[in-house]
Amino acid sequence: MHPDPIKIHPSVKPGTRELILGRLTPYAALPAKRDEVAEAFKRITISEAEARACGHFSPGERTRFEIAKAEAFVLLAIFWDNMQSPIHDHDESDCGFKVIAGDVEETRFKVVEGELVTPVATRRLKSGESARSTGESIHRLGVPRGEAGQSITLHLYCPILGYDAMGIYREVDEAGMKARSRQRDHA
Ligand SMILES: [Fe+2]
Repeated sequence: MHPDPIKIHPSVKPGTRELILGRLTPYAALPAKRDEVAEAFKRITISEAEARACGHFSPGERTRFEIAKAEAFVLLAIFWDNMQSPIHDHDESDCGFKVIAGDVEETRFKVVEGELVTPVATRRLKSGESARSTGESIHRLGVPRGEAGQSITLHLYCPILGYDAMGIYREVDEAGMKARSRQRDHA
């Protein structure tokens, strides 16, 4: 007997299970087919109740739970409690995400120099909205800053993203950028 190409969390309901298997089985094995998986991911969602059956909030933390996993991708539910991610990239991995519950704020950044970045755009995503980040895009995600709250997001990473492989960045403000360019001019 062949092992299942996709392992699915036992609390996922049969209908959602069928949807995941139906849409994602063609892309379960490596090599990773990023574009097709991102396209298939658009049709997949889980309800808030289902997400809550597979995971939980932890005070002040971002907690990840595996909803489905295959050789080429992982589908994660992330529970955000009053926090944002660090500013990060996605190494080689392509990430699509959608908001399952609560509001989420995404800020995208561009590199100034090395690991120093500056924001280029911020947007607020509501339950049901989705977005895609390619490997090189740099962003911060989480509960909108300055607000207390909880949110749940569903993420697909293809190929599977090693958490240690994510690049982490530091934000510089305009004054910091000017200071750095002055330093460069005088170097
Ligand atoms: Fe990300």
